[in-house]
Amino acid sequence: MIKIKVPATSANLGVGFDVLGIALDIYNTYYVRESDKLIIEGVEEKYQTKDNLFVVAFNEVCTKLNVKKNIYVRIENDIPISRGLGSSASLYVAGALAANTLNNNKLNLQEIFEICTKLEGHPDNIASALFGGFTASLMHENKPYTKQIKVHDKYKFTVLIPDFKISTNKARNVLPHSYYREDVVSNMSSIAHLILALNDGDDKMLSIANNDKIHEPYRKTLIEDFDTLKNECLKNNAYTFTISGSGSSCLVISDDKDFSKKINTSNLKNNWTLIDCNIHLSTPIIEEITDV
Ligand code: HSE
Repeated sequence: MIKIKVPATSANLGVGFDVLGIALDIYNTYYVRESDKLIIEGVEEKYQTKDNLFVVAFNEVCTKLNVKKNIYVRIENDIPISRGLGSSASLYVAGALAANTLNNNKLNLQEIFEICTKLEGHPDNIASALFGGFTASLMHENKPYTKQIKVHDKYKFTVLIPDFKISTNKARNVLPHSYYREDVVSNMSSIAHLILALNDGDDKMLSIANNDKIHEPYRKTLIEDFDTLKNECLKNNAYTFTISGSGSSCLVISDDKDFSKKINTSNLKNNWTLIDCNIHLSTPIIEEITDV
């Protein structure tokens, strides 16, 4: 049996819509072995079908390798679903890696990246889930490329997870089809400065290069408590407060490893869980284990 741990990811980091992503130390763990029929355990019954994203990616890799396999998979799900923390990317990456591992690793990580990005539709979460760390990705002629960028050690990441879901489809459908040139220029200049600030530890620039014009103004209307929570976090010295991926969670960058403890959530209309995270820096951890 193989055990695969794939991290949660927070995409966009505000101004990096569909480009930036970061892997965090919250994990889904997958236990996988070959089986005579498809068995999925550990998730709600509605996810126990061949449409489960893990199985979709598993089958996609098998098709590419010209093999057919059934599997038993048990999923320990710590990444909340439909909260903007990359649960679908984790499933795709785990399914693809499981199929590759059970087929003697015939594909390299770039090929896995291409398959998973095609399934997900954009590369940001997939890149950080697969390669780890902070990533900036690019699509060129339908192929994804990514670069990992070192984050200054002093920066700490806190995810704020509400008790309501938002589907990525819904959050993409509220976005406009076209933008003013000034807004695009603002985001282009911000993304360059955000990356440099995170890399070299420039707190002031990190706070400035954080004013997204592409998705947050439209999506924050879907997140009740957004403005109150943002004010509370900024008041407590957060450098950035952004929507995590397509929401509903949010992401704070600060220099406080216990940032979550400073935040008063009693005035909010929904229940929010705050988790202080470290960056997950490697490719997913794959181990061969005795059957459990
Ligand atoms: N970049 C994506 C979005 C991440 O914001 O829609 C969610 O999958």
